[in-house]
Amino acid sequence: MTTHTTATQVCIVGAGPAGLMLSHLLELAGVDSVVVDHRSRVEIQSTVRAGILERDSVQLLVESGVSDNVLIHGDEHRRIDLAFGGGSNRVDFHELVGASVWLYPQTSVFEDLAAAREAVGADVRFGVAGTEVLDIGTERPVVRFVDADGLRQEVRCRYLVGADGSHSLCRQQVPEVDRRQYFQEYPFAWFGILCEAPKSAAELVYSHSARGFALISQRTESMQRMYFQCDPSEDVTQWSDDRIWAELQARVGANGLTLQEGPICDRAVLRFRSFVHEPMRSGSLLLAGDAAHTVPPTGAKGLNLALADVRVLAECLERALRKDDVDALDEYTDRALSRVWKAQHFSYWMTRLLHQIPAGTEFDARRQLAELQSVVGSTSGRTYLAEGYTGWPAPR
Ligand code: PHB
Repeated sequence: MTTHTTATQVCIVGAGPAGLMLSHLLELAGVDSVVVDHRSRVEIQSTVRAGILERDSVQLLVESGVSDNVLIHGDEHRRIDLAFGGGSNRVDFHELVGASVWLYPQTSVFEDLAAAREAVGADVRFGVAGTEVLDIGTERPVVRFVDADGLRQEVRCRYLVGADGSHSLCRQQVPEVDRRQYFQEYPFAWFGILCEAPKSAAELVYSHSARGFALISQRTESMQRMYFQCDPSEDVTQWSDDRIWAELQARVGANGLTLQEGPICDRAVLRFRSFVHEPMRSGSLLLAGDAAHTVPPTGAKGLNLALADVRVLAECLERALRKDDVDALDEYTDRALSRVWKAQHFSYWMTRLLHQIPAGTEFDARRQLAELQSVVGSTSGRTYLAEGYTGWPAPR
């Protein structure tokens, strides 16, 4: 079979938000790229994902010209509620740090990016099979695959970017001696649902209770997203709608909230894991987003970190490829990692603050309640949460 060859400056493996945003930013900088993904566009679009965007993420989407849909269809949230000990406590980001976040689902971010890339005829190949990544230790890395029409393809490039998610194929190409990997496992997961019901609260409610954590989030006026802490081995088929609602009501009811119920149309268990791969560069390979790091979803940081990575990466690649600044990419790891580790800490902290630790002692339970009280009970405690949740300034 003939192999079709394409030459480009940057080949990006992974057409999720990180890969597509990078391709978009590179184009603005006059750098050409090809993006490949084994998933189809419909498959990526129909995977239910998280929904909170930091102010800088919103700004990046709007100011780089991807779309202003987030401002039209997204919901600005100026605060969250932390519910525990029988009541609810407002943490007002706007008042504390003058910032807000936007509720705008990751699938919508993807749709906006895919449409923007399509509109300018960008080379994005969805639904490819048998992807192979070769020669990352040279200045001529290669990506081979069979495209959606069954044709054998080869992309030759100067730099290769692995934006291919937490199971990254690209990451596996980094020689073991050159990498360090840091993990934190958690003894719980989230049971996530999407349901057809009116909103139960105007803001996101992070609810701590002796039965375990629950998060009440939203999507639209008639579609809601909720989660409750569960065992990582929980089997979703064992949970009828009635059983799910009883569990959610019991958890938030302990803090005085009643949920509006409706048919449940999606249910899945989300595993928790903190992970960092260092360095984020190995020869001609650069890693971005979940391929380099994952965080538990409690702090709503995953997508925001991925977008922050590619903002830095696009700038380093532009300097390397257009300004002959061959050392520019050496900066990428340090600049991206300072934010990554802050977000790791914040996500870990919020997770430990709000979840029941299986087999925890009465000491653990009382200490945790005191920590919650310390956070909401002082301006400095609430400000700490507000700064982390709304995001730190873009890395320099
Ligand atoms: C969501 O709406 O899916 C969501 C919101 C906040 C989180 C995690 C997920 O911390």
